[in-house]
Amino acid sequence: MRDFDEKNITEAVVDRFQSTPDPRLKTIMTSLVRHLHDFVRDVELTTDEWYVAIDFLTRTGQICSSTRQEFILLSDTLGVSMLVDAVNHRMPKGATETTVQGPFYVENPPEFPQGFDISRGLKGEALFVSGTASSAQGGALPHAVVDVWQSDTDGYYDVQRTDLSEPTLRARFRADAQGRFFFWSILPSAYPIPHDGPVGQMLVATGRHPWRPAHLHFMISAPGHEKLITHVFVQGDRYLDSDAVFGVKNSLIREYLREPPGVAPDGTKMERPWRRLNYDFCLKSTAT
Ligand code: BEZ
Ligand code: FE
Repeated sequence: MRDFDEKNITEAVVDRFQSTPDPRLKTIMTSLVRHLHDFVRDVELTTDEWYVAIDFLTRTGQICSSTRQEFILLSDTLGVSMLVDAVNHRMPKGATETTVQGPFYVENPPEFPQGFDISRGLKGEALFVSGTASSAQGGALPHAVVDVWQSDTDGYYDVQRTDLSEPTLRARFRADAQGRFFFWSILPSAYPIPHDGPVGQMLVATGRHPWRPAHLHFMISAPGHEKLITHVFVQGDRYLDSDAVFGVKNSLIREYLREPPGVAPDGTKMERPWRRLNYDFCLKSTAT
């Protein structure tokens, strides 16, 4: 076939994928082509705009490295990451909702005993975090693995700082036989997502800000259950309704309670005011 025009080229390209051996790949490629072609027709993309898009994607790839994933950031800021999360985590009633993992998780964080202070002396408002891990079908999840990571008071993760010699504000804890865990930290701060690259330029060009509301990240694993990746957001944060990556869900917002000087739940004597957060996580069983 020859003489393709704006009407018949889409079916010609789709036809070219007819003998794709993997049926799932065939579905994805044909749908992608249809949507891409419809998009071009819809906005009547000019040649100059096509060049701008190619240049944008080229620069997005060029800034990627082992520590910078600009394509995921693009996916995050276009709401694609949260859409993929939603399609893949249709949770049963009672299960904790999920949200984006983000780029700051480090595999196999150092494991510490319950009660450890993951701030390792960084400045900030002391925060006592407690919680439980249980199954959405009922019952505690003994010895669940609880990974946590968060920003510091200035809004930076340890991997963004050059002055820290050990993993900070990140750790792995193991829940007790009743699925309970607790640790000390500092209050996290809101922070801008990395915005010194093409994604930041897209945000500026479209009048958007790069900020995420303050949150703690949790990744919880237990046998027979789907790994839970989520955040607990700080109630009252100014960016809860305009998160740059669309990650906020009402069920994930909690008050980080203000407490006066006194004795904390683990017996620690607090001479200054401190904060307290409790969150009970419910994991989806893989059996259903
Ligand atoms: C984060 O919460 O760490 C994050 C998520 C998406 C993009 C950037 C950061
Ligand atoms: Fe984060």
